[in-house]
Amino acid sequence: MTKLKGKVAVVTGGNSGIGYASAKELKEQGAQVVITGRNANRVQSAAQELGAKGMVADVANLTAIESLVGQVEREFGKVDILFVNAGIFKPAPVGQISEGMFDEQMGINFKGAVFTTEKFLPILNDGASIINLSSVNAYTGMPNTAVYAASKAALNSYTRTAATELAPRHIRINAVNPGPVTTPIFGKTGLEEEQLNGFAEAMKNRVPLKRFGQPEDVAKLVAFLASDDAAFITGSEYNIDGGININPLLS
Ligand SMILES: NC(=O)c1ccc[n+]([C@@H]2O[C@H](COP(=O)([O-])OP(=O)(O)OC[C@H]3O[C@@H](n4cnc5c(N)ncnc54)[C@H](OP(=O)(O)O)[C@@H]3O)[C@@H](O)[C@H]2O)c1
Repeated sequence: MTKLKGKVAVVTGGNSGIGYASAKELKEQGAQVVITGRNANRVQSAAQELGAKGMVADVANLTAIESLVGQVEREFGKVDILFVNAGIFKPAPVGQISEGMFDEQMGINFKGAVFTTEKFLPILNDGASIINLSSVNAYTGMPNTAVYAASKAALNSYTRTAATELAPRHIRINAVNPGPVTTPIFGKTGLEEEQLNGFAEAMKNRVPLKRFGQPEDVAKLVAFLASDDAAFITGSEYNIDGGININPLLS
């Protein structure tokens, strides 16, 4: 498929999980793709596998985002697709939320996402598509996710306002809210394997479609929102969650 031929795409956090699968899909649909991440080795080996360009930038660091924008502009000129995907998940119960954990999660998931868009805006083409990777957690009261959920709810709020303000440039900005998706993110939480397995089983049973999503499921939606097929869609949110947001009282 060549729907995205001629377009330049930037995927933050593209060396793993949903970002990696989306970079692959965007590339397969014809885009030139830049992936970013924090670790040079991980970024370069993923970029090589994908046939993409790898660039290192920690989204928690505004100077690093500015350097990334400069590097992308020098090598590719303007950008058509910005997939703001980099994020972390650090669960903690209310009453045990540390300032460090708050700052890290809000700093990457919300501040990092906002300033990715803010800093890229000058090199986005008019008519570009921004996709913010949020979560169904933005709308739930799932235990241990208070700060994570707040970081995503804040991102969705920014998305709506930005959609109004960027419309004169025909820049579309939308949010994607996945339910549970099988990626390395859970292994980075610090939880024991047994706890993770218990969590996965309980979560799977809550999903009406009785499975976790795969990164490729999300990648298809991202590629659609990035394409001109979604030309009339902005300020919207898409749940992609096997129906978990229906929250059935009985199943
Ligand atoms: N998996 C799910 O169930 C799920 C559900 C809803 C929403 N999400 C969201 O989906 C997005 C992608 O997560 P994933 O599940 O695909 O997890 P993942 O496999 O851990 O991928 C996250 C990516 O973000 C990068 N990243 C993290 N912090 C960064 C920073 N400060 N600067 C630059 N890159 C950074 C990671 O790089 P490193 O290799 O350096 O860590 C990695 O490439 C996140 O925003 C997450 O909140 C995931």
